[in-house]
Amino acid sequence: MEKIKNFITALMVATSNCSLYTKEHEAFDALAKKSHAMVCEILQNRLDIMVIDNELIINKTPVRDSGIHGINLIKRLKRKGIARIEIAEGVTVQEIRQLVIELAGSVKGLKNYPHIRSGAVDVTMTASPDGSDPDQYSTPEELEKVKDIFHSASPFKKLNIAGLEEVVVHFISTFKREASILKFLSPVKSYDEYTYTHATNVSVLSVLQAQSLGIDTDILHDIGISALLHDAGKMFISKEILEKKGKLDDKEFTEVQKHTLHGARYLAKISDLPRLASIIAFEHHVKYDGSGYPRLTTNGSHQKQHIYSQIVAVADFYDALRSNRPYRKGMEIKEIFVLMKKSEGRDFNPFLVENFIRLMQNALSE
Ligand SMILES: [Fe+2]
Ligand SMILES: [Fe+2]
Repeated sequence: MEKIKNFITALMVATSNCSLYTKEHEAFDALAKKSHAMVCEILQNRLDIMVIDNELIINKTPVRDSGIHGINLIKRLKRKGIARIEIAEGVTVQEIRQLVIELAGSVKGLKNYPHIRSGAVDVTMTASPDGSDPDQYSTPEELEKVKDIFHSASPFKKLNIAGLEEVVVHFISTFKREASILKFLSPVKSYDEYTYTHATNVSVLSVLQAQSLGIDTDILHDIGISALLHDAGKMFISKEILEKKGKLDDKEFTEVQKHTLHGARYLAKISDLPRLASIIAFEHHVKYDGSGYPRLTTNGSHQKQHIYSQIVAVADFYDALRSNRPYRKGMEIKEIFVLMKKSEGRDFNPFLVENFIRLMQNALSE
């Protein structure tokens, strides 16, 4: 059962990454391959995934404690009107990729592939896995065409805003029902997961802070979405620099710093997004005292970091230090609190630091 849960996690991480990044992004490719490797590990003959009420049933066994990823899978399948998916032996990476892309999209239903069948009530693997099924998604040439269209339109696909909103609405409604937030913070298991996990954790921790300050409804929602996208500009930075194990040299560091600018520009062009997304992407590495990057000055006069960027900066700092990275292990929570307290008033708004530590301590003592 552990392997099945790992597969669900891999599949959902890949799906959420697909909402955040282009299908051609290396991270997405690696995640699709990881999901494929995991499904191959558990496929004896076929894998049977069913949703009955709010239960996930895999190979006729109910999956208990499938966590946020299991809940996410149930929600996505329900929204698509899908009650059952069967994955047969011999499934290819390309088929898993297509499944992930469709799960991430907002169109109803799922297409059938030679080794993947789905249906509203029941499905059976009747098609021969030789590709003769009329419902089969596309030939390799067609796939190439789709790929070309994406490349020629823009190096990055249009963000799936509806998918992101769904994630944030879920956090907010869950916070209202349940006090314990720590279960929503996912540990990072690998580099590929970092982008998505970090974005999610920063969003959860930002919404939590904002809510505790009495911020509600639309603004809370805007903060959640904006926090989820705070590092969107990293799409424009090369993977070699982002994954470098050793210390970055000056040139590389200057390059990484540009993710704030790239992100702000990119998000500003998306009409469905709140303007706050662009502001936060631009300001989340500015310090409370105005140092950090980029410099916030207008006509030579110093400008203060937006209060919501200050909230995201606290969440970002905490999650970045807490996570295991290729070059260091994640820090203990208490050590991070000590660092935060040391730098309050300089790097962070002291009121927000006190509030954040109190919130986390309350959550930990539950
Ligand atoms: Fe950042
Ligand atoms: Fe970040």
